[in-house]
Amino acid sequence: MATPPRDAPLDLGPEEFRSAGHELVDRLADLLAALPDMPLTPGEEVATVRAALGADATLPGRGTAARPLLDEATRLVVEHSLFNGNPRFFGYVTSSAAPIGALGDLLAAAVNPNVGGWTLSPIATEIESQTVRWIAELLGYPISAGGLLVSGGNMANYVGFLAARHSALPAARTDGMEGARTRVYASEETHTWLTKAADLFGLGTDAIRWIPTDDRQRLDVGVLEQTLAADLAAGDRPLLVVGTAGSVATAAVDPLDEIAALCRERGIWFHVDGAYGGFAAALPDAEPALAALAEADSVAVDPHKWLYAPLEAGCALVRDRSALQAAFSGRPSYYVFPELGEDAPVNYFEWGPQNSRGFRALKVWLVVRQAGREGIVRMIADDCALARALHERVAAEPELEAFTCNLSIATFRYVPQDLRDDPDAVAYLNDLNRALVERLQQGGEVFVSNAVVDGTFLLRACVVNFRTTLADVEAIPAIVARLGAEVDAELRAAIRA
Ligand SMILES: Cc1ncc(COP(=O)(O)O)c(C=O)c1O
Repeated sequence: MATPPRDAPLDLGPEEFRSAGHELVDRLADLLAALPDMPLTPGEEVATVRAALGADATLPGRGTAARPLLDEATRLVVEHSLFNGNPRFFGYVTSSAAPIGALGDLLAAAVNPNVGGWTLSPIATEIESQTVRWIAELLGYPISAGGLLVSGGNMANYVGFLAARHSALPAARTDGMEGARTRVYASEETHTWLTKAADLFGLGTDAIRWIPTDDRQRLDVGVLEQTLAADLAAGDRPLLVVGTAGSVATAAVDPLDEIAALCRERGIWFHVDGAYGGFAAALPDAEPALAALAEADSVAVDPHKWLYAPLEAGCALVRDRSALQAAFSGRPSYYVFPELGEDAPVNYFEWGPQNSRGFRALKVWLVVRQAGREGIVRMIADDCALARALHERVAAEPELEAFTCNLSIATFRYVPQDLRDDPDAVAYLNDLNRALVERLQQGGEVFVSNAVVDGTFLLRACVVNFRTTLADVEAIPAIVARLGAEVDAELRAAIRA
């Protein structure tokens, strides 16, 4: 006689799972089909969203049946979300997520392997290893590199940073950083991850040497060289130099080839933050400065950006896999994972900061398999072409002023015609464009974010969205000009009042 199942409040019988799952997938299929025509955001006030949730409700004493609960969750999420999968979402560096990635996450969660140890996740670990190797191959990076998937760009950069720290200061894991006089070098356009890393990993943020940029927001290698020489002469210890492959503000690509040569000469770890732009190195016509990310000691890329994987998925690569292991490994007594011989598989808890790890590799693996190198390269090239088209259209619009265009980011601003050549309008134009970004983000017609270049506040559109079409980018100038005129009129009225 079969033992009756335990009465566990979280169990879900196969029929209930099946019908709830089918219902959910049906709703999601409808959502994905409707995305291009739906408002990008409901643009609701905080109070409205909290009221819809019943945010003040106390902890539920009793449970709720799964199907109505999933139904409620679906309604809440669909009705009160901003959709970065909408083809007119151009904010920050947030891609539209490949639908196959969502199905991959469901599969991963249902099986729930713990990808900290091979024994706990045999096929999942091998899929992660293969995914990391394919990412290296796509970037032109050595496939013998060590690497792993992490939550995103910040974490992937931290992994490179810690591998560099261990390489320069092996004793830091036991002795800490006191008195180490370490320095790290990066351009002023580097993403905020570096400040967090210097803070979190014991250097302190004053250890960062912020190197100025040239007129295209790229790290000035001459100044880097001088700063390094001065620090070495003073007895400081350079830990690593960071080069950015696609800066977050304007997609500037640092001269990675020159930085690599300098680091080689000085014996300093070279880390590339390619969280946004790294995958563009796969383009057959990638500029040499970008392709040189292959020369780095470590690289961070973000599959949840330009590989269109759903959040969260970052990837760290370290050229010398033993450096990765040395920075993170530890053998607690409660893990007795078997030694698996020559070509031993990885126990990923020894390669990164996490212990228990989810199967985030599956969605990335599926994305790479579904699109292949050809598909990935085509989507990235199309995104870049759309950014260039936007830049051209903006330049042709009398009340818009085009600024930078690199990779798939275009920057521009709204300038009322009477202020075009007014040298006293600098502060007003910054205020106007700041207010305009807010208006655009709330309005739901098109979502852009901002960049500040040499003190000028700009609108910024980043195309990392395989749903965006030429018609979508062509719509932007007229929308921005219309809302710009509206905001301008309001600001002038407020100043007069
Ligand atoms: C260049 C760069 N580095 C790092 C990051 C941080 O990535 P994440 O938000 O995935 O942690 C970003 C995010 O936009 C970025 O553009």
